[in-house]
Amino acid sequence: MNKLDGAREKINRIDKEMAELWTKRMEAVREVSEYKRENGLSVLDSSRESELLSRNLGYVPEELRGCYSEFFGGTLSSSKRYQRELEAKPDGTLRMELGDRSYDIVIRRGSLSEAGKYMKLDRKVLVVTDDGVPAVYAKTVAAQCLGAEVVTLPQGEKTKCLESFRLLLKAMLERGFTRKDCVVAVGGGVIGDLAGFAASAYMRGVDFYNIPTTTLSQIDSSIGGKVAIDLDGYKNTVGAFWQPKLVLIDPDTLSTLDRRQYSSGLAEAVKMCLTSDAELFEIFESGEIDSRLDEIIRRSLMIKKRVVEQDERESGLRKILNFGHTVGHGIETAENGRLMHGECVALGMLPMCSESLRERLRAVLKSLGLPTEITAPIEKIKEAMLHDKKSDEGGVTVVRVDEAGSFRLEKIAFNKLFRQLEEYLTEVRK
Ligand SMILES: NC(=O)c1ccc[n+]([C@@H]2O[C@H](COP(=O)([O-])OP(=O)(O)OC[C@H]3O[C@@H](n4cnc5c(N)ncnc54)[C@H](O)[C@@H]3O)[C@@H](O)[C@H]2O)c1
Repeated sequence: MNKLDGAREKINRIDKEMAELWTKRMEAVREVSEYKRENGLSVLDSSRESELLSRNLGYVPEELRGCYSEFFGGTLSSSKRYQRELEAKPDGTLRMELGDRSYDIVIRRGSLSEAGKYMKLDRKVLVVTDDGVPAVYAKTVAAQCLGAEVVTLPQGEKTKCLESFRLLLKAMLERGFTRKDCVVAVGGGVIGDLAGFAASAYMRGVDFYNIPTTTLSQIDSSIGGKVAIDLDGYKNTVGAFWQPKLVLIDPDTLSTLDRRQYSSGLAEAVKMCLTSDAELFEIFESGEIDSRLDEIIRRSLMIKKRVVEQDERESGLRKILNFGHTVGHGIETAENGRLMHGECVALGMLPMCSESLRERLRAVLKSLGLPTEITAPIEKIKEAMLHDKKSDEGGVTVVRVDEAGSFRLEKIAFNKLFRQLEEYLTEVRK
């Protein structure tokens, strides 16, 4: 081992120890914050911050003090952020922190009938839903508005199109909506994406509230502000970043959802915990999925929230949300509508995991009733992957997971990725 390797080895060891110590520090932060909450004390205390910094500087050599202040500043700000997250917990509300675009994410059973408590509905409201969503959900919301117009569109991805977009804009125009009025989506990701896009465009943007009613939309698509429609069969080609004013999640609405849809949506939660939350993956492994659904929703949203807060416009970290999607999209196109999106993501994650994790993942997917065997012809999958809009010339960035709760990004040439995929298929089809 040369000198450089030796020094890097040392850094790796120290980083590991620091990560373990940092985790312990956060556990203590949690204890302090719980104590303060129980005793009615203010959670954040800036005088203690400067006291801590000046004391710790005494442990650091003079020439490193400038750098240390910067490093410790980061530790303090992550503690504050963690405390804020803990603070949000008692009534089940999370907060997406995006400066002046911040908003609450309410997760509460029965909250649909209290929508007016959380949203400003004493104005003109366009309630958008589809004919697969039980009509009573949109009616419950409409009943809480001063003046609601309910638009019910046909269910399915085809509704995310220019015609529906136009129809919503016209509905607002004809009823004299101004910039002060708002749009409420009551439905899955299709309705959320479409209604959100209409809200982003009408008079250069009106308030948008999202009430997601599918697993996929409750754990994923309703937060983050990506709104869009499809164009000539190309998914999400026309859209915007338009954050909602509030997201209201009532897990009770999932009781009417078809079981296959339910499991397909949960594949996205499995995706998120594999990259970012090993404990959540263990919940899936325990099989206690229905009984711990609220926790699964909350923890998945926490992951997505953190990613969006750091990378609102998808320039870097947000790529981890694409775990399983590169191969998954290829399978989805090759299957030509036979499999649901989440089912394809489930299959797409398998080749991107280490072998030991793959076995555990397979067991979880089976318990959810999701497929575990890729049956589409490899040539069709490859062709579809080459046409994927997220591909760069000659290659693509994929997300790999070797251990639950961690990930690495890898830029890989298509030829190499295809070879690996072929090897994987040969192995599993033996
Ligand atoms: N914006 C984002 O960040 C983001 C992320 C992921 C996916 N998406 C988009 O989400 C869409 C898929 O969303 P989805 O999976 O929710 O599908 P979906 O909106 O089509 O809903 C699935 C089906 O369930 C029905 N349904 C909805 N709620 C129901 C309920 N409570 N009870 C009974 N039936 C109900 C709908 O009528 C529909 O037939 C895609 O268009 C995808 O592009 C967006």
